[in-house]
Formats: sequence, structure tokens, C-alpha cells
Amino acid sequence: MKILVTGGAGFIGSHVVDAYVGAGHQIVVVDNLTTGRRERVNPAAQLYAIDIRSPELRDVFERERPEVVNHHAAQASVTASVADPRVDAEINVMGTLHLLTLCAQSRVRRFVFASTGGAIYGNPQRIPADEQHPTTPLSPYGIHKLVGEHYVRYFGSTGMTWAILRYANVYGPRQDPFGEAGVVAIFTRAMLDGKAPTIFGDGKQTRDFVYVEDVARANLLATDATTSDLANIGTGVETSVNDIARHLASLTGFRGEPLRVAPRLGEVYRIALDASKAKRWLSWGPQTSLMDGLRKTAEWFQSTR
Ligand SMILES: NC(=O)c1ccc[n+]([C@@H]2O[C@H](COP(=O)([O-])OP(=O)(O)OC[C@H]3O[C@@H](n4cnc5c(N)ncnc54)[C@H](O)[C@@H]3O)[C@@H](O)[C@H]2O)c1
Repeated sequence: MKILVTGGAGFIGSHVVDAYVGAGHQIVVVDNLTTGRRERVNPAAQLYAIDIRSPELRDVFERERPEVVNHHAAQASVTASVADPRVDAEINVMGTLHLLTLCAQSRVRRFVFASTGGAIYGNPQRIPADEQHPTTPLSPYGIHKLVGEHYVRYFGSTGMTWAILRYANVYGPRQDPFGEAGVVAIFTRAMLDGKAPTIFGDGKQTRDFVYVEDVARANLLATDATTSDLANIGTGVETSVNDIARHLASLTGFRGEPLRVAPRLGEVYRIALDASKAKRWLSWGPQTSLMDGLRKTAEWFQSTR
């Protein structure tokens, strides 16, 4: 099957492309390489280094005629969205709308959308949060991802089936260790360099860490499914930032103490996602334990030094 993956040169998108190629699909990647990297794109895939907002995207649809579109391209930084909500809206709302319009015009059969749990639910009223949880985004990024979801549903009424996957905190090889998010990548890189990682606040804040290959598998299953639906992709388990630091210190041999600074504003304190719907709908569940995932991530960062 021919599948167009936007953001296929990015952290998660490149793993999704690898999974698709492994399953025998023919892959076209659209990525403007802002945070993505050309060398991450599977050599079996065809890369178009263009912006999802550009007029050239129409030419790609006309030339490639994809059956399925998997949308991972995004401005994915919460901090950047707070600093410049307009740019976030241009990419995450108008870019998504442009893509969906072309999908409808070229009769794409199915659309898979990478969305977010934590940024959409806001401070959770119950943990783990399920898909029925109220949506009260705390950032422009969360607002725009939610708008993207509504547009996906709207375009679904034009004949295309869809899957929306709301990810927890995804971690694993290829994650950017120099960004403001991605605590596993940032801590691993710092510890391997013998530098103290910085913990914001008391470190007791929790996240739901899901391994990137499990997320890629969820995309395969969501592509093969025929119904239109939405599901959280997480583990349901809360892990504190202090625990992540402790596990990574033992995996990397780091003996120092983390640097502790004031908490960051606008971040949720605790979150975990209930993924029982993904189990019912897609027969998906996480297969990589936190310790295995952290070990694989640390080995990958070690091998790319
Ligand atoms: N990392 C997480 O924990 C997480 C959690 C929830 C949702 N998500 C979502 O998953 C997707 C992938 O995130 P990621 O962590 O891999 O981030 P990433 O920054 O590594 O990937 C985004 C990719 O999109 C590309 N891109 C950005 N703007 C573009 C544009 N205008 N046109 C074309 N390409 C563009 C970038 O170059 C990059 O390759 C995003 O949609 C993000 O919102 C990620």
C-alpha cells in the first residue's frame, strides 16, 4: 500500500516509517526538515523536503496518489507554542487543514493523526485519564492539536476513514536531547557527557512514558483498522522524574546529583493515560517495559556519541 507520512524525518515519524517499510508498504515522506533529519529517513522511502503548507504539496499528491496519509508533521514544542501561538497555529491548524483538503480531493482512503494526551486533557481530574476526560488544553499547542482532531473528524464525513492517536510521553532512540522536552533524551545525553541533569521542581511530578517502537506499532494497527475512532496510546503507569533520573543514572554509570531548580509554569504535575480503549479497538498494548526501553535508549545514545 502507498502511504504518505508527514514528519517522517522526525523522532516518532521516522520510527513509523521504519515500521511501515518493515510491513512491506511503499512510503512517501513529506518533511521540511525543521527539526527532522534527512539521515533518519528510511532509505526505502521517497523524501520530499517540503512544507505541509506549501503549494508543492498538491504536486506530491498528484504524482504519488497515496491511499493512506499518516500525519506526524507538527510544531511539537509546547514552549515554542506559548512564545509564538500564531506560528503554531499556522503549522498545526492551517498545515493540517491544507493536508486534509488535499486528502479529500485526491480521495485518500484513511487518515492517521498523531495527537497528544497530556496537552489536550490539561491537569487531569482522574488518573489514568481516558478518552472521555474533559479537554482543557493549557497551551496553544494543545489547543491547536485539538482543533486538528476536530478537522480530522470533519473531513471524515467526506468519505475518508480516520484514526486519532493521543500519545503519552514518547521516548526512545532519535529523540532530540537538546530540546526543552523529552526528559529521557535530555537526561541520557547529559549523564553520558558526565553533566548533571536539571530537575524542575521537586521531581515528584509524573509522566506516562511510552516507548517509541510501541507507538510505531500502534500506527501500523491504526492504519490496518477500518473504523474511525480515537484512542490514547500510553501505559497507564505514572513514573516520576526522580525515578527516571535514578534509573538512567544506573544505566549510564552517572554518579553525580541532579541540579534542582524552580518548577516550570504551565506544566501538568501528574499524568498517565488509560489505554484500554486502544486494546479493545486495535488490540494494542505497550510491550516494552520502562527498564528495557530506557536501556535501549541509553545504548543508542552511547552508540551515536
Ligand atoms: N514526542 C512526544 O512525546 C509526543 C507526544 C504527543 C504527540 N506528539 C506528536 O507526534 C508528532 C511527532 O512528534 P516528534 O516528537 O517526533 O517531533 P519532531 O519535531 O521530531 O517531528 C516533527 C517533524 O515534523 C517536521 N515538520 C515540522 N513542521 C513542518 C512543516 N510545516 N512541514 C513539514 N514538516 C514539518 C519536522 O521537521 C519533524 O521532522 C507531532 O505531531 C507531535 O505533536 C509527540
